[in-house]
Amino acid sequence: MRIARHMGDLAEVKSLAVSESAQGKGSGMQLVQACLDEARALGVPKSLRRSPTCPILSERAGFHRVDKGTLPHKIWSECINCPKFPDCGEEAVEIQL
Ligand SMILES: CC(C)(COP(=O)(O)OP(=O)(O)OC[C@H]1O[C@@H](n2cnc3c(N)ncnc32)[C@H](O)[C@@H]1OP(=O)(O)O)[C@@H](O)C(=O)NCCC(=O)NCCS
Repeated sequence: MRIARHMGDLAEVKSLAVSESAQGKGSGMQLVQACLDEARALGVPKSLRRSPTCPILSERAGFHRVDKGTLPHKIWSECINCPKFPDCGEEAVEIQL
């Protein structure tokens, strides 16, 4: 898991994963909060998660769903080589820090 800074005002929580044997004990939420703390420390005003498979976790952390069309095109540059692009059904959630 890491926080990736895309541009001046936006960072992304990426590659969130907890080993199977440790899941369900609050580690996922702690990792998300650690990323948000890091983004705040960097002075980034907004943080994003894409394709959240765990909506409860995102919702509890304070993220809300956003229209993908409002996100900068640069965010999607890594998707261009994906066989599912552009209709992968991916969703995006955002939080104001
Ligand atoms: C998603 C993941 C990171 C969650 O980690 P975790 O340590 O189990 O999460 P937490 O224990 O902090 O759970 C926080 C809440 O989210 C819920 N939740 C966690 N994973 C969920 C899932 N896959 N679907 C729905 N809800 C989920 C938990 O039930 C918990 O709610 P509760 O307190 O009411 O039980 C972990 O399941 C994982 O690594 N999954 C495989 C990789 C993956 O899907 N990554 C996410 C990409 S968006």
